[in-house]
Amino acid sequence: METGEVVRWNPGVLANPHLLILGGSGAGKTQTIRAAMLELSRRDFGVVAIDFHGDLLIEKAESYPISMTSEYGVNPLVVDLDPAGGGPDPQRFLVLQSLKETFAPMGGNQLALLDRALGEVYKNTGIVQEDHESWRREPPTFRDLESALDRLAEAAGKDRRPEAVKTKLGPAFSYGIFSKPQVPIRERGTTRIDLSKLPPGLQYLAADTLCRQLLRRLQMRGSQGTHRLFLVVDETKLMMPARREAPHAILNRIASEGRKFGLGLIVAATSSAHLSRDIMMNCFAKLILKTDKIEIPPTARRFLAERDQLSSLLEPGVGLINFGDEEAYTVVRVRPYAARVGDG
Ligand SMILES: Nc1ncnc2c1ncn2[C@@H]1O[C@H](COP(=O)(O)OP(=O)(O)OP(=O)(O)O)[C@@H](O)[C@H]1O
Ligand SMILES: [Mg+2]
Repeated sequence: METGEVVRWNPGVLANPHLLILGGSGAGKTQTIRAAMLELSRRDFGVVAIDFHGDLLIEKAESYPISMTSEYGVNPLVVDLDPAGGGPDPQRFLVLQSLKETFAPMGGNQLALLDRALGEVYKNTGIVQEDHESWRREPPTFRDLESALDRLAEAAGKDRRPEAVKTKLGPAFSYGIFSKPQVPIRERGTTRIDLSKLPPGLQYLAADTLCRQLLRRLQMRGSQGTHRLFLVVDETKLMMPARREAPHAILNRIASEGRKFGLGLIVAATSSAHLSRDIMMNCFAKLILKTDKIEIPPTARRFLAERDQLSSLLEPGVGLINFGDEEAYTVVRVRPYAARVGDG
């Protein structure tokens, strides 16, 4: 039942700032996200949006396209400077994980070769685990990784395996985005990273890298009571590894740890099947928009919502909201971005 009461999401006062939006195609997820981004930016929160579809533009946002022809890219080989837990060795492991996810399936042999190549790449740039000062050197890029694989292929003679690994990773090299200057992410204002021109695998690697770097940067600064920065992801599916409950999945980590470091999360999904337990449990505020009919039973179960209430959602922008501590969901009508802009 719509009561006409005004309902506001006010992350500044909530113990947990994260917002989860679920809705089928055309239900109003993007309009809701853009409305949230606009209101956050008006209240001086920093916003970083990972834009997979190219439609998260809001007024005053700084947009950075990442593509074959873009000025900026993303560098997965940047080393974490935290003396406890940082350095090239953990980074090698993380990059290996991400590549494994991006280019699945990869066999043990292929991963071992890739790991060797990554090891060489850091060694050649003089970045070594034991020497903390060396971590500050200019990080290598995927161009260096490509060369390292070339050298391994040459040394392997008749053994075609290194060549096969290089071929497999082809798009990661040919797009060039992992060898360009790193896109700047500011903690103030709204930054929109447009990944819409990339194929899905590279979107995953780029988004994964950016989110890891963001969390790490805030972690380095230590605990912070209030959330001043929000990460926005308009499609969780494109950022979840095959095993969605994996604790290393960056969205799981941000959902469960981000709050401590002042990082809030706004995520949207089209199906509850794309959501991990970490995301479900840690996003206190949940907005459910119209879902596909076959999504109603699993949504009712996972979100503890009434089926009847879910099937009564018919219009875009009309949904059910719960901020985490209420027993039941309340029907809301989201004021879309288009109605808000210009009346600041
Ligand atoms: N809050 C709203 N109030 C009124 N109309 C809305 C609202 N939200 C969305 N709409 C209408 O529904 C259309 C689809 O909305 P939107 O693009 O936000 O859906 P979506 O859930 O992101 O869909 P997709 O899964 O295809 O990306 C909009 O173009 C707009 O016309
Ligand atoms: Mg959308």
